[in-house]
Amino acid sequence: MRLKEMREVIRNVPRYLTGLRDKHGPLVRVPMGKTDAFLVSDFDVVQDVIIASSRRFDKDAQKTGPGPDDWGSSLERVLGKGLVTSVGTYHRRQRRLIQPVFHRQRIAGYGTAFAAIADEAASGLTDGRRFNFHEAMYELALGMVTRTLFDVSLDSEAADRIRTAFPREGGPLRWELSPFGKILLRLPLPANRQFKRGLKAVDDIVYGMIEERRKGSGDGEDLLSVLLTVTDADTGEHLTDLELRDEAITLLMAGHETSSGSLTWAYYLLGTHPEIRERLHAEVDEVLGDRLPTVADLPRLQFTDAVYSEALRLYPPAWVLVRRALEDYTANGYHIPRNSVLMVSPYVLHRDATWWPEPERFAPQRFLPDPDPSDPLTGHAKTPGRPKLAYLPFGAGPRQCIGNVFAQMEGVMALATLSRHWEFEPVGDPPDRVTSDFTLQPRGGLEMIAHRRR
Ligand code: HEM
Repeated sequence: MRLKEMREVIRNVPRYLTGLRDKHGPLVRVPMGKTDAFLVSDFDVVQDVIIASSRRFDKDAQKTGPGPDDWGSSLERVLGKGLVTSVGTYHRRQRRLIQPVFHRQRIAGYGTAFAAIADEAASGLTDGRRFNFHEAMYELALGMVTRTLFDVSLDSEAADRIRTAFPREGGPLRWELSPFGKILLRLPLPANRQFKRGLKAVDDIVYGMIEERRKGSGDGEDLLSVLLTVTDADTGEHLTDLELRDEAITLLMAGHETSSGSLTWAYYLLGTHPEIRERLHAEVDEVLGDRLPTVADLPRLQFTDAVYSEALRLYPPAWVLVRRALEDYTANGYHIPRNSVLMVSPYVLHRDATWWPEPERFAPQRFLPDPDPSDPLTGHAKTPGRPKLAYLPFGAGPRQCIGNVFAQMEGVMALATLSRHWEFEPVGDPPDRVTSDFTLQPRGGLEMIAHRRR
């Protein structure tokens, strides 16, 4: 790889991979150390890998990554065998047990909390003040998930300990994903000690909450209380404390890393597209007037929903889904040897010009249910014959995001609540450099100026 190419990879990996797809087509071998890695963008093959033949692929792909041995283990040290990291029959059982907890109706019960937390965040804003918007969205998303998962507020001691345990940028959790990670992890660095202390602190909080709920009346509405009541219909068994701990920490991490990114990107896009911002404001003002949104408003917040969906198209936080071939695999004339790593990138697929004309353009009208025939960009998400997987911010198949309804509802409620009184003006250079080790985030945060709009 030439120096110039290397710089581009370091700057923005998702964009680099999109360039590879554009140049070399729907199956590209990507240089990744000794491992065979392929970027797959052929929709039939994607469908097969993610859904139809998903059992021929595993998700523990990091373990065969370019690192010296078992990559990904630090993620497992934190998340244990929760839904994100577990595989095979164990994952299938846990998923079957936990899926009903995320039923749309139950999640709708959290609507008031979503609006209240976003409103609290809005009340802390100062007109004309420049601030790290990304950080603020991180706090907001963490607040949403700690309230719904544990029924604790963001200024509680528990939330504070969770927040300080895992630094948002850098730190051992992320190091293991870097080529020098294994070396860094062995050094007696203060950050390593902080990581261990943080992990212990989070464990103590979660086990403490499990114990508290086991002693209590058992009728709590938070996700942890509901997880405690989950029963395996075949065996009558409940989740053990260790299983509960792993799932709770998994939901905590998966539930705020992603949403903080998507809200940040959504407001960056709104900040740079005044005409779209005005249309959003018009809808929010008309539907809400002076009150906070409720879940019952969602069907009328169609443009707000479209803005969030379009932000997820352009900047899907889970920008790459990684799988490992458990056996040799051939499809559509492509041959993939056993143990190869396959990368299916929502970021790349969302830029397929066949299904998304002018793919780089921020155009929420693509998601509106009633296409406007005079606008060539409207209604594309509804085009007949469009492969379902042309849009997959939440993945698909047996490993699809279990929090997809939660996330969409939370995102739209947050957008509607914050936009009632506030708009944000990006400052500095466009966020061209991104962090993409876990999720897609602007590197080094994103500065914005808050303006009170009414
Ligand atoms: C905008 C927000 C979110 C995005 C874009 C997102 C995206 C994704 C994607 C693409 C996957 C599948 C990964 C794969 O196939 O390899 C996934 C899995 C998962 N997500 Fe989300 N997610 C979001 C929010 C949430 C929330 C709010 C929660 C929980 C409250 C959550 C919990 C999970 C879990 C537990 C999994 C693993 C599911 C399994 O493998 O069975 N996510 N997410």
